[in-house]
Amino acid sequence: MSALVLGIESSCDETACAVVRDGREVLSNVIGSQTELHARWRGVVPEIASRSHMQRMLPILREALDRAQVAPHDLDAIAVTNRPGMIGCLLVGISAAKALAWQFGKPLVGVDHVQAHIHAAFMTAPDAPLPMLALVASGGHTALYEVAAHGYATRLGATRDDAAGEALDKGAALLGLPYPGGPAIERAALGAPASALSFPQALLGPESLDFSFSGVKTALLTHLRKLGIGGEGRAPSEREVQECAHAYQAAVVDVMVKKLERAATTCGARSLSIGGGVARNQRLRDKIAASPRLRDLVQAFPPFDLCSDNAAMVAGLGTLLWQQGRTSDLTLEAMATAASTSRAAH
Ligand code: KG4
Ligand code: ZN
Repeated sequence: MSALVLGIESSCDETACAVVRDGREVLSNVIGSQTELHARWRGVVPEIASRSHMQRMLPILREALDRAQVAPHDLDAIAVTNRPGMIGCLLVGISAAKALAWQFGKPLVGVDHVQAHIHAAFMTAPDAPLPMLALVASGGHTALYEVAAHGYATRLGATRDDAAGEALDKGAALLGLPYPGGPAIERAALGAPASALSFPQALLGPESLDFSFSGVKTALLTHLRKLGIGGEGRAPSEREVQECAHAYQAAVVDVMVKKLERAATTCGARSLSIGGGVARNQRLRDKIAASPRLRDLVQAFPPFDLCSDNAAMVAGLGTLLWQQGRTSDLTLEAMATAASTSRAAH
């Protein structure tokens, strides 16, 4: 069955709209990033984010339809992220989606943002063998999932405190590096001299598939204080920044790889995907490629523009849900938290 689906995403700091044909062919994927608006606060400020979504939603929607050369009448369904995220932000996308669905008489599909990150893998690797092990790591969430069937993912573990991207953003702030911190730490770590510096990795017991990143942040802070850096103290040298960035990135990334190895064994994974902004990290990709437990799994890594927040992944999963009859009505609500399984999400 041919399908033309519009996706709308506004859960965090990207205002995004996309048109996808048959669940995989991305006709347009327009992303308006707010990074520069939040940079001076070193994190996403909900009120600034929702106001910016309101200003940018309609121009971005028009651009997505224009680039795809599609009119609203041509659409089969309208998919929108309705969880998890900041309520004020989610409501902007949901309101736009409801208005379009109502005006043009189109089915409305509520999509879980984290499940959409997972689904992005199937947009470029539809035949990836199941079960698939999926890591979603971003500024807002870090979790492992087992995907037993397309559109059905079960959470195996999640962070108990900070998300991996959040930990990188906070570590970068301590080192005086710019926001977003993930890419800044990655760049600084590249120049690091050989060093014995390392920070503790929180494995949370021999079997846990959960994560905890708040301890490594404290370890970095304690290390800097010992050197008299930060607060009333001196600024770090370039070499110290590079050394700390390298050790900090290793502590965050290597834990994720160890948890992936554990989870691959637990669920008997045959394929592997990584999504969310942190999936762009080269150390993560190199460590996976070097892991005897992970390197032989079929890699279904989405391209970078489908890893970070985008609406094509929302349209992609929305297509599947629409085809499965899992649509919503105009009472669709915004929800702050992710579903632990995709069955519960719709
Ligand atoms: O998925 P995303 O674009 O937005 C959400 O947070 O939902 O992820 C953004 C996060 C930020 O915390 C950023 O520091 C991190 O992804 N990030 C990276 C890299 N690029 C972005 N972390 C590590 N290495 C990168 N290359
Ligand atoms: Zn995301």
